[in-house]
Amino acid sequence: MSAEVFEKVKQVEEEINLANPGDEASVEAFRIRFLGSKNILKPLFGEIRNVEPARKKEFGQLVNSVKQLAETKYQNLKEASQNEAASKKQEGMDLSAPGIPLRLGSRHPISITMDRIIGIFEKIGFGVAQEREIEDDWHNFTAMNTPEDHPARDMQDTFYLRDFSNYLLRTHTSSVQARVMTTSQPPIRIIAPGRVYRNETISARSHCQFHQVEGLYVDEKVSFADLKQSLLYFAQEMYGPETEIRMRPSFFPFTEPSAEVDVSCFICDAKGCSVCKYTGWVEIMGCGMVDPAVLSNCNIDPEKYTGFAFGMGIERQAMMLYKVEDIRLFFENDIRFLKQFRSAL
Ligand code: DAH
Repeated sequence: MSAEVFEKVKQVEEEINLANPGDEASVEAFRIRFLGSKNILKPLFGEIRNVEPARKKEFGQLVNSVKQLAETKYQNLKEASQNEAASKKQEGMDLSAPGIPLRLGSRHPISITMDRIIGIFEKIGFGVAQEREIEDDWHNFTAMNTPEDHPARDMQDTFYLRDFSNYLLRTHTSSVQARVMTTSQPPIRIIAPGRVYRNETISARSHCQFHQVEGLYVDEKVSFADLKQSLLYFAQEMYGPETEIRMRPSFFPFTEPSAEVDVSCFICDAKGCSVCKYTGWVEIMGCGMVDPAVLSNCNIDPEKYTGFAFGMGIERQAMMLYKVEDIRLFFENDIRFLKQFRSAL
């Protein structure tokens, strides 16, 4: 009797060993047969009462080990069939499907505007001069005819370097004029784009850092008419061929005479809008004839040479061009803002 039930268990063991279910459904059938609630091992546990007492323990161990075998085999089969399903899915990949597009970066609106300004002046023979942002007092102020006690220094709230009070973050790109004129002789025809700093409260309209482009032309017989014509050319290239300019007398320590330049409002065609405050004109830059004192400060003979200069804020131009109402947006690097300029590349 004992031998018979041992034999039954051995048969089940062999069946488990030989089983080779491939797909998910036959793995499930395997589970039901050997591990399900009505599995074929269950009645064999009951057979223990037909086993002679001396072999009861042996029988129990055998049935348990066969059950364990079924368990282990099932786990392995399940894992294998899951892996196969996953790789089948991969095989099903459509290689002709369009790729996931890489998101391209976009150029910063300030760079776009700056490059446009540079391109316009390069066409009429201006070279680009780039200079340091940490400047000394002399190049930023003194050489530019703004000595220490000059009230014009109050116009620009300066960041000085804490341990080097002679050094500062340049307050305007006009300092590049002094750099270029002290190291080269006329003819000089440069524009100087770059970052400048002023100790101003940050608001929608002003920031403690922004960008300017400076222009300088020094040669024999440079006249105010040259200045006016160059700026008209610039305004029409920048804002459209119908653009007009007007000059209003102003004051800057480094130019004499000085003027402020307005362009006819390109947003409303000078009909009146919020950008031009219903005047039809928007101010875009300061300019003038280089003060003879600036020329001699920089070792250029004011008897022989004259020059014109101008300076403009780039954020201001970009705000008008792109109708941006808050200057802070340019410095926050918010992708939602920046990606809108992709088409302007
Ligand atoms: N440096 C002036 C500023 O920051 C701008 C300026 C005005 C530059 C007149 C010039 C100029 O070269 O001639 O406000």
